[in-house]
Amino acid sequence: MNLLITGGAGFIGSHVVRLFVKNYPNYHIYNLDLLTYAGNLENLKDIENQPNYTFIQGDIANEGFINGLFEKHKFERIIHLAAESHVDRSINDPLAFVKTNIMGTVILLNAFKMLWLDNYTDKLFYHISTDEVYGSLGDSGFFTEDTSYDPNSPYSASKAGSDHFVRAYGETYGLPYIITNCSNNYGPNQFPEKLIPLFINNIIHNKPLPVYGDGNYTRDWLFVIDHARAIDIAFHEGKLGETYNIGGFNEWKNIDLVKLLCAQMDIELQREKGTSEKLITFVKDRPGHDLRYAIDPSKIKNELGWTPSLTFEEGLEKTIRWYLDNEEWLNNVTSGDYQNYYQKQYN
Ligand code: NAD
Ligand code: DAU
Repeated sequence: MNLLITGGAGFIGSHVVRLFVKNYPNYHIYNLDLLTYAGNLENLKDIENQPNYTFIQGDIANEGFINGLFEKHKFERIIHLAAESHVDRSINDPLAFVKTNIMGTVILLNAFKMLWLDNYTDKLFYHISTDEVYGSLGDSGFFTEDTSYDPNSPYSASKAGSDHFVRAYGETYGLPYIITNCSNNYGPNQFPEKLIPLFINNIIHNKPLPVYGDGNYTRDWLFVIDHARAIDIAFHEGKLGETYNIGGFNEWKNIDLVKLLCAQMDIELQREKGTSEKLITFVKDRPGHDLRYAIDPSKIKNELGWTPSLTFEEGLEKTIRWYLDNEEWLNNVTSGDYQNYYQKQYN
């Protein structure tokens, strides 16, 4: 099988690529990634020479290039992760999100459709999406697969748009698809613009921890390798034309999560208890900040047998250890442009 994975040099993509390259020697995995600021081939050093793996650098929003690539490699299945993924960046530059997340997805759908000309036996377009498309919850309730879309940020609007196009290609052209909508991921290799790695990096360097608003926003956290396991299961066992929500019943208010992170970092760095918490600084809120996300993962659990393998405390400990053991990775990605981004975002 020729399997195309887009965005495989990013955070989640690199864990998905590794899992497929290792577990499925009979598949040839093509990793297509533009290598934006978020893409990093260092994430895949351990598998880069495997015979069933090929890396291709390129833009999913470049139609001519994508059509040529599909013609050449005749991809039978696709796992589509490539995206602009950070909410704060989407607030500053929505068009970049429209281009990659909507245009890029439609260009891939078209290329897939043109290649197979409606002969879709054993073919699959698997689209990776997010729980943010459902908008914000109040203090109670969960997102299910039937929750209406109600996106609030340019990022989530662009992901919602891409989901709608995938579904529309299924309805209109019979294109075989699966969509999964996952909650907040954390773990090794996450770019330090997102809450957990940003705060780990700042604690290491004794820099302020910028908590948006009052910190009483809730997210539902899942260890990235458990997400990759869920993608493996949905890819092989999922029903065509279905959506599955992925999450681990693991809600944390930001401020509570940050305090737990501070406590674990103090232990790891052998600093006096309470040292890291002193770095917490409440800053101006994110515009349009969604109050709460929480996934009901019953469908993927009951129908496909997936459950998370780690508790949050275990996952967080592994994550902290990884960042402390991979200081060079962290230093490389936080030099150069990152400093400009940080300055602009946090002033
Ligand atoms: P990421 O930002 O770490 O990685 C995105 C990757 O896509 C990078 O390697 C980047 O180089 C690549 N890319 C960006 N634009 C491209 C383009 N035009 N052409 C080709 N490649 C391009 O993102 P992530 O956190 O790993 O998220 C991956 C996917 O999972 C995204 O679709 C995201 O919406 C979705 N998702 C993320 C989370 C999360 O918590 N991080 C949760 C649910 C769903
Ligand atoms: O829910 C899934 C989504 O989770 C994914 O689709 C996105 O790609 C991913 O980025 C993530 O979005 P969030 O906006 O929830 O993640 P982020 O890490 O940016 O923020 C988590 C929470 O922490 C959120 O309530 C905002 C807050 N925050 C974030 C940063 C970066 C802060 O308080 N301070 C910060 O500096």
